Amino acid sequence: MGTLLILIASLLTLLSSSIGDPGGPGCNRCHPDDYNALMKIYNSLNRPYILASWHPNGNCSSWKGIAGEFNGPVPIPAAISNLPYLTSLTLRKLSNLTGPLPPSLANLTRLQRLRLDYNNLTGPIPSSLGRLASLNSIDLSHNQFTGQIPSSLSNLSNLRDLHLDHNNLSGQIPESFGEFAVSPMYLYLSHNQLSGAVPAALGKVDFARIDLSRNRLVGDSRVLFGGGKSTDTLDISRNYELEFDLSNVAFSKKLVSLDINHNKIYGRLPTKMSEIESLQFLNVSYNKLCGEIPGFRHGFDSSSFVHNKCLCGPPLPTNCDSTLREPQKLSSKLAQELSQGFGKGNRDPQRVDSNVFQNLMGQVAELLNILRAQVAA
Ligand SMILES: *[C@@H]1O[C@H](CO)[C@@H](O)[C@H](O)[C@H]1NC(C)=O
Ligand SMILES: *[C@@H]1O[C@H](CO)[C@@H](O)[C@H](O)[C@H]1NC(C)=O
Ligand SMILES: *[C@@H]1O[C@H](CO)[C@@H](O)[C@H](O)[C@H]1NC(C)=O
Ligand SMILES: *[C@@H]1O[C@H](CO)[C@@H](O)[C@H](O)[C@H]1NC(C)=O
Ligand SMILES: *[C@@H]1O[C@H](CO)[C@@H](O)[C@H](O)[C@H]1NC(C)=O
Ligand SMILES: *[C@@H]1O[C@H](CO)[C@@H](O)[C@H](O)[C@H]1NC(C)=O
Ligand SMILES: *[C@@H]1O[C@H](CO)[C@@H](O)[C@H](O)[C@H]1NC(C)=O
Repeated sequence: MGTLLILIASLLTLLSSSIGDPGGPGCNRCHPDDYNALMKIYNSLNRPYILASWHPNGNCSSWKGIAGEFNGPVPIPAAISNLPYLTSLTLRKLSNLTGPLPPSLANLTRLQRLRLDYNNLTGPIPSSLGRLASLNSIDLSHNQFTGQIPSSLSNLSNLRDLHLDHNNLSGQIPESFGEFAVSPMYLYLSHNQLSGAVPAALGKVDFARIDLSRNRLVGDSRVLFGGGKSTDTLDISRNYELEFDLSNVAFSKKLVSLDINHNKIYGRLPTKMSEIESLQFLNVSYNKLCGEIPGFRHGFDSSSFVHNKCLCGPPLPTNCDSTLREPQKLSSKLAQELSQGFGKGNRDPQRVDSNVFQNLMGQVAELLNILRAQVAA
């Protein structure tokens, strides 16, 4: 039926040249144990139509990509754990690959890179992964993993890249994640159900990229920021309950993208924020920020700032002049401008300049906001 692309990418970097020439059957570059395990995997997938290189008499060194078909649901073949020389395992975009990670994965002690993203894997992430000391990159994103993130992962002293996003993970971010050895570190935990506060210990880590968006994190996450860090991407958007004062936060000088939308972040936008030369994307919308928007080098549009408590100034239509924030003054100014825009002051009353119109509508919206805030207070 459907053709699946099975990629066991560089499966055979496993067959490290240091093994020499063990002389397996038809397999001059394979370790015999690995050869036998690969055959078990091949058989457990019901000997799918596959590239010639996967034929029992094939040449191991070219078993790099495997294209075939199989009918699901199929678990990760248990025989994979009999590949002690495997350094890289990639099985991705296989909707028929289901079930839990076999605990015996912990047998792959030479594994440096594990990519199992975009499958339908379920169950917990085994804490035994934390014993595969060679791992430098883990991608388990876009699956249906549940349970807590094992704190043991911080024991992986070579780990620089951890993708656990787009799963159904719950509980807190482990405190031990403040102990990652590699710096800077790439951490992706978005689109899960993580709760609680961001552990203060995370402040010790220099994250090049950190994405904690779309979880249920609460409270103060200022530890993620810092002027001395090399962070280029920081996303904590849509946690809804992150709540802290942004006014005195210092930012990485390498910041390219900052997204904090849909939280309860308050205070002002620090002027220094507008001095970050590298900043190309900014979204602080839907928070409780106040005060004048500093002049950013990169011209962000109003959608980056909308729905805050009282941010004002361009690109928002809201005027920062506080005397105009009194409804009476604002409404009389508005009435005056309306009559100029639409009435006598306008040479051609049939036509209204679109800039004038936009400005007037901005003031109407502002007046409504002020009135609404007063009614609510
Ligand atoms: C196996 O494949 C490699 C790379 O494609 C090639 O260099 C080598 O000669 C092949 N060995 C045999 C026995 O076919
Ligand atoms: C998954 O397995 C089902 C049922 O065995 C099959 O109909 C479907 O084509 C397979 N999906 C893919 C993408 O191969
Ligand atoms: C998981 O399986 C369901 C059907 O059982 C399918 O709709 C979905 O696309 C699969 N997910 C992935 C990531 O392949
Ligand atoms: C680990 O690998 C060895 C062979 O290297 C094998 O005998 C053993 O069964 C494996 N253990 C698990 C739990 O798969
Ligand atoms: C890390 O490894 C050490 C030694 O194996 C162990 O004692 C410790 O519990 C591990 N830490 C975590 C967080 O699992
Ligand atoms: C995620 O877990 C929640 C309960 O914790 C459950 O209601 C929801 O259906 C799960 N979602 C998926 C995609 O498994
Ligand atoms: C900022 O986020 C809000 C809310 O998700 C969205 O409506 C708006 O388009 C975003 N703006 C930018 C520039 O990303």
